[in-house]
This record gives sequence, C-alpha cells and structure tokens, in this order.
Amino acid sequence: MQFITTEHYDQLSNKAAMIIAGQVSFKKNSVIGLATGSSPIGVYKSLVHLYKNDYIDFSEVSTLNLDEYLGIDPMDEQSYASFMRKNLFQNFNICTSNTHIPQSNPADVDAECIRYEQLIKHLGRIDLQLLGIGQNGHIGFNEPAAHFERETHVVELDQRTLQSNARYFESIDLMPKQAITVGIGTIMKARKIVLLASGHEKSEILDEAFFGPVTPAVPASILQFHPDVTVVADQAAMQVISRKGRL
Ligand code: F6R
Repeated sequence: MQFITTEHYDQLSNKAAMIIAGQVSFKKNSVIGLATGSSPIGVYKSLVHLYKNDYIDFSEVSTLNLDEYLGIDPMDEQSYASFMRKNLFQNFNICTSNTHIPQSNPADVDAECIRYEQLIKHLGRIDLQLLGIGQNGHIGFNEPAAHFERETHVVELDQRTLQSNARYFESIDLMPKQAITVGIGTIMKARKIVLLASGHEKSEILDEAFFGPVTPAVPASILQFHPDVTVVADQAAMQVISRKGRL
C-alpha cells in the first residue's frame, strides 16, 4: 500500500492521470476500471488534456465502469452513462464500443448483472482500477454489509450515500434508491488499484479503511489485502492519518 499525498485536488488529479497514462503507454490495450462521482472529475480533465496534447492514445483501451443507478434514463444528466460521456468519452479517443457501464433501465435486472459479470470475465483481468471512497467506506456501490459481495449485484443505497449524492438531484426523493455495482471480488482481482480521496470529509474514513480492522462494515478495508494499492489523497483527506502518525 502506497500513499501519495498532494497539496491540492488539482495535483491529486494530475498525479492519478499520470499513473493511468503510464499504464496505457506500457500496455496499449489495457482494461481500465473507471469510477464516477466528484473525485475523478479532475483526473478525467487531466487525461483529456494529455490526449489533446498528443501524450496518450486510448484507441485500444477498454473501460469498465464500476456502477450505475437503477431506474434512471441513460440520457438523464445524472446517470453515470451521461457523466462518463460528458467528463471523458466525448472528448477522448476511445471507441464507444470499448466503453462499458451497467444498464440503468434493464428489462431484467438479474440478467443484466449476469451479463455485466460475463463481460468482465470476457475482457480479462482489469489492469488498473480507479476508485473513489464513500464517506461510509463504500467502493463502487458496495455498501457496508454483513459480508463482502463478490460479483455484480443490485444494491439498496445506504442512507449516507443517498444524503451525500442527493446534491446532484433536485431532491432526495427524486434520487434512485438502487444501483448495480460490480462486486468486491472483481475490484480485488484488478492488477493495480488507484484510490482517490479529496477533502476533510474523507479524512476519518480513509484512516478507518486503511488502518482499521478489515470488515464488510467498511467495504474499502478489504483493500488492505490487495498487493498493489496506491492511495492518491490531498492533505485535507490525509488529516486524520497524519494526526495519528500512521505513516
Ligand atoms: C461511483 C463510485 C463511488 C464513489 C464514491 C465517492 O462510481 O464508485 O464509490 O467513488 O461515492 O464519491 P465522490 O467522489 O463523489 O465523493
């Protein structure tokens, strides 16, 4: 487990983008696992900048998104499909057919989980998985639970997740209450994991996840068992870890 601490969010974003760029220049047809939410927006901006300046080529890359809300139109501004189009794909040289996100409105939700899981297996091992972390310790939408869920599944969003993500919707009542997420097993099988954490509100959970007990009550804590995790965090997110002299 490696920690890279940066002063601000912009530096965090550039650092993580450079790690992804390094992965893709080393292996052109890399499979990259992508996250949504506020944490990776700067990373995607930096990647677009690198592409526009001819530093990277994603034409052979495949991407697999971690999760998607259920019961939302894929064209809805708040769907993760729209998020990815707006923040990365539409400005980038990636083949749309190589980008994958769980469907938000499948006719059969269980069949969609099986389809996505098979797709992950077909693409092979994820070379680099980008993650954020929820204030309750979730990764993807693997919410605190009694056990670690291995494969793609439907989740009821946790009250804290609903409260935290309600900022993107007109009201919490209009927010989807369920999502499809890849499982912890898939995340753990990635060759390399890069986890982003920015801001004071991530400080307590970052400490709990990486220096507390490994428990499904804090899903990100499982990452302590992964052989290649890099946490890229700004000083605000590292506050509790620094105060407790963990590193
Ligand atoms: C979204 C995802 C979530 C977010 C987490 C943090 O695809 O995987 O686990 O990474 O909710 O969200 P932000 O970055 O908005 O704080």
